[in-house]
Amino acid sequence: MFDTTTNTGLNTATIIAQLTDTHLLSHPGDRQRGCNPWQSLKAVLRDIAAAQPDYLLLTGDIADAGELTAYQQAISLIVPLQIPTYWLPGNHDAIAPLFNSFTHPLFHPPQATILGNWQLVTVDSTLSRACWGEGRLDRESLQKLEERLQRCHLPALIALHHHPLLTGLDWLDSIALQNADEFLALIDRFSHVRLVLFGHIHSTFAQKRGVTDFYGTPSTCLQLHRENSKLGDRQPGFRLLHLHPDGTHKTEVRRVCVLT
Ligand SMILES: [Fe+2]
Repeated sequence: MFDTTTNTGLNTATIIAQLTDTHLLSHPGDRQRGCNPWQSLKAVLRDIAAAQPDYLLLTGDIADAGELTAYQQAISLIVPLQIPTYWLPGNHDAIAPLFNSFTHPLFHPPQATILGNWQLVTVDSTLSRACWGEGRLDRESLQKLEERLQRCHLPALIALHHHPLLTGLDWLDSIALQNADEFLALIDRFSHVRLVLFGHIHSTFAQKRGVTDFYGTPSTCLQLHRENSKLGDRQPGFRLLHLHPDGTHKTEVRRVCVLT
């Protein structure tokens, strides 16, 4: 599961576009709460293509209800970009249909890999018996993460679906990463963990904790106002990351105009 390697030029920044919570429905024409996730994702991918990232990072809730046709839609929209795509599941995903559909050579399941002068570690934080969509990193995942960080000292970007830091919104925090304390205690031991990226919160989040920057990213469809927990009217978005060879980074969230 771990240890694939992909090298880009070592003297230039590696550019990653994170897209998350696409919540695709069974059919491209389907809408949910006024949003057509297929159309919205299409618009996001148009802007991502213009940004010319080296890699895509897809951080879960790819389908809204785990439908096979939704995963097929994702493939049909993403593959034409011809960009290697690292993905991990979210609480809305159905694990078997997801793993069985995302077999295209451009698609890479949860793993650790080297991208330029950085390492990317994508982990599955979904809980098979979740009550309300909460997440957890199981013992094996934590152990593999620890072993990886002990073995490779390149600046690390860890990506997962569930947020490991509190947002301040009760109901959202109740479905966060349930053993965030274990995860945070682990990464605190490794000063080369520079970035933690997640989805799940359908909004922008940025917080520095020690040497690590934590970022949450808007959904490619419905947005959430964390201030009042209501569905927001902000546009869909994605995050662009420039990972510099010296271990620094820059990042921005780009909002996307969707024509309906
Ligand atoms: Fe979601």
